Amino acid sequence: MGRPDRIAPGDVPALELRGLGKTFHLRSGGVLRRRSTALHAVRDVDLVLPRNGILGLVGESGSGKSTTGMMALRLLEPTAGRILLEGTDITTLGSAALKPWRQKMQVVFQDSYSALDPMFTLQQVVAEPLRIHGIGTPDERAERALAWLERVGLHRGYGSRYAHELSGGQRQRVAIARALILGPSVLIADEPTSALDVSVKAQIINLLQDLQQDMGLSILFISHDLSVVRSLCDRVAVMFAGRIVEAAETEGIFGAARHPYTRSLLDAIPQLDPRNRRRRQFRSREDLAADIPVLSRAELAGDVAPSDTPRLVPVAPGHLVEARVTADPDTRSGA
Ligand SMILES: Nc1ncnc2c1ncn2[C@@H]1O[C@H](COP(=O)(O)OP(=O)(O)O)[C@@H](O)[C@H]1O
Ligand SMILES: [Mg+2]
Repeated sequence: MGRPDRIAPGDVPALELRGLGKTFHLRSGGVLRRRSTALHAVRDVDLVLPRNGILGLVGESGSGKSTTGMMALRLLEPTAGRILLEGTDITTLGSAALKPWRQKMQVVFQDSYSALDPMFTLQQVVAEPLRIHGIGTPDERAERALAWLERVGLHRGYGSRYAHELSGGQRQRVAIARALILGPSVLIADEPTSALDVSVKAQIINLLQDLQQDMGLSILFISHDLSVVRSLCDRVAVMFAGRIVEAAETEGIFGAARHPYTRSLLDAIPQLDPRNRRRRQFRSREDLAADIPVLSRAELAGDVAPSDTPRLVPVAPGHLVEARVTADPDTRSGA
């Protein structure tokens, strides 16, 4: 009782990542001159997914988004940091202790085909999480699976079909039903619409939006599709080379981006008006690293100590940007 950092239960985030990191050790060279190179796929990632909210995680391919999601799900061991699910640290829980928490956090991937067992009927596929967790009788599980197929827009007749008979959009619906049948509070959606055509994409986004509201779900929405992120997410975090470089309310990112990497991502959004069409061109890492913003303390929304090491600092309420911080001019002259 009475811990100073204690907050009201209603304010505990659905999911919180604190200082999360993953270093892969890659072996290179031959048998005689074997070397190991460290690849920092994810570094010092802090993310807060509020209850009942949708947080977008964006960045180009290879920036570390999926690795972050896989660690949050405890499907990949972090090399640093902590994962808190509804305020409980699940970072080091063993498989038995983790099982009840697995019910609370589920995932939908881009390629659901590989996740849907081709030998099972769709009813079996959707009911499987209930079976794994020993919930209900076989009849009850079958009935709930059919009800979930309907809820994601597939009539009950689909229950006796197989994954290979479905279109890409229908498969994503099945994957969503399977992910939500346990009634999780957190859904991690890793590029769930990236393989779909534009019209189908919109249907799946609408479905996710409806389910999020009905169930009070919290969604970590991983995507490189910025127009989808803009329409769906409350808040957006931008990842570059394994780090979060900017995070803000959605309009803070789309209307007032401060980091050069965020701006280059926004510039790469395909323009619908052909007169405005720009070529999709990312700046190189070296180029961007040389361009980390330098902000004076006076420009910041909080009191931040000067630092030559780039780190996330508040430029407006709720808007964080990776920057170097210089002393204010008046502080400098007064010291
Ligand atoms: N199992 C692995 N072993 C080694 N390197 C990996 C592994 N998984 C991912 N990586 C590397 O980590 C970086 C981040 O990958 P990833 O998280 O998949 O990025 P994103 O999802 O943003 O495209 C990439 O450089 C990728 O090659
Ligand atoms: Mg990925």
